[in-house]
Amino acid sequence: MAIENPASQGATDHVRIFDTTLRDGEQSPGCTMNVEEKLAIARQLERLNVDVIEAGFAASSPGDFDSVRRVAEAVTRPVVLSLSRTRAEDIDQALKAVDGAGNPGIHIFIATSDIHLKYKLNMTREDVLDAATWAVARAKQHLDYIEFSCEDASRSDWDFMVKVVTEVIRAGARIINLPDTTGHAIPEELGRMFAYMREHVPGAESVIWSAHCHNDLGLAVANSLAAIRNGARQVECTINGIGERAGNTSMEEVVMALRTRRDLMGVESRVDTRQIYPASRLLAQVIGWPVPPNKPIVGENAFAHEAGIHQDGVLKHKLTYEIMKPEDIGIPSNKLVLGKHSGRHAFVNRLKELGVHMDGVDVERAFAEFKSLCDKKKVVYDDDILALVNEEARRTPEAFELVDMKVTSSTRATPRAEVTLRVKGAERTAESDGDGMVDACFKALYRAAGINPTLERYSVKSITGGTDALGEVSCLVRNDGMTVAGQGAHSDIVMASALAMVNALNRLKARQVIAQRVDVGP
Ligand code: KIV
Ligand code: ZN
Repeated sequence: MAIENPASQGATDHVRIFDTTLRDGEQSPGCTMNVEEKLAIARQLERLNVDVIEAGFAASSPGDFDSVRRVAEAVTRPVVLSLSRTRAEDIDQALKAVDGAGNPGIHIFIATSDIHLKYKLNMTREDVLDAATWAVARAKQHLDYIEFSCEDASRSDWDFMVKVVTEVIRAGARIINLPDTTGHAIPEELGRMFAYMREHVPGAESVIWSAHCHNDLGLAVANSLAAIRNGARQVECTINGIGERAGNTSMEEVVMALRTRRDLMGVESRVDTRQIYPASRLLAQVIGWPVPPNKPIVGENAFAHEAGIHQDGVLKHKLTYEIMKPEDIGIPSNKLVLGKHSGRHAFVNRLKELGVHMDGVDVERAFAEFKSLCDKKKVVYDDDILALVNEEARRTPEAFELVDMKVTSSTRATPRAEVTLRVKGAERTAESDGDGMVDACFKALYRAAGINPTLERYSVKSITGGTDALGEVSCLVRNDGMTVAGQGAHSDIVMASALAMVNALNRLKARQVIAQRVDVGP
């Protein structure tokens, strides 16, 4: 029996998806992205049909300002906004950065919990009320789309929040966000907070209420759903749930929960769910964080039935154990697709069917790579092709290009590598011994590049089965206080490792060029 959502809001009712992968997600260690990567994610977010993209925090650094500006210009339909503190410089920078957007917006925040006021802001409640109202009024002179957040709302005094929210709505805020900043709330409690605020704030029905949850207790999605059942009509989330500490609400989980349980929730998002899996893979590739196999919706095992009883049931009728269809999420069927006799046309068609958008990819080069993979590998699967195209997209104009690599190893001799990099048109060759072939290769690459980073993480994953499978390597390196990820894919694991390291060294170089982030205090 369907239980009606008590917060149902009419026929056109839907939950807006506010994606903060590029701001709250990117803010977390090891998830930094360069501008080109942010643009690729932003375009995928537009294909997903999200309502709002939080593109960054313009005032935090010139690099962030530039990313917000480029994203604002690159997408047309979603609202693009920048985060901003209640400071004049922040507001001005944010407004400037989103100026070129089709639908520009600003997201102003200040903490409202006593603990933040006392220890972080050193402000009284009166000060916070004034700062919030002043900031919203200042932004409103230039822009209509203003979201206001009471940071640490879930640990704030509800009646004080009623005062702040009442004033910011009067000053022109159109969206009110009540974040569970520390991931401290439980669903029933967060739901009650939304109900209380909607009941006590004059003009509550004229604004959109938004939930922004962190996953410290593993409750971000449950808390977001509780907020929706109590009137929230926007959820702030990230692809794969990346974000500060344990992450933010996972976009794919909340979207699919709304869709799968529409009987109970009575309201859905407008996300094109078939773009979920490509988005998840793209982000994992970009930041170098593999998706855990048991991650709901997008993990490798999310639709794998291992137990005999389950397999038997699924064979008899899928609905016995499957509550969602993998194809609805855009998961490729991993079927045998193309072989060495396939032409360029068939290759490009297959990529389109897989939802790949070829912006920035050299199709000729990708096709040549595909042909050479067909020579090495008996069976080429969809996932192999996706890895190959992602590898191709990574090799955009860069500081370092791998020209050649020779690696030797035997049971009697120390592994040795010789690599040649092209750096600004000139070739640089370097050699090194190592504990293994990959180690020797990395050390030779550091010498050739003139950078000596610390390798913090290294992982290899086989894309499809068999010893001829494409291997996907992710590495995380740290240098001068900056951590970046690199990825590479190749049928030879040492080559995939070298490509991953060159990718990471290029990112380090790019980040060194971008001015360091300024202090982002209160
Ligand atoms: O978690 C949080 O409170 C935030 C705000 C800036 C919205 O990310
Ligand atoms: Zn947050």
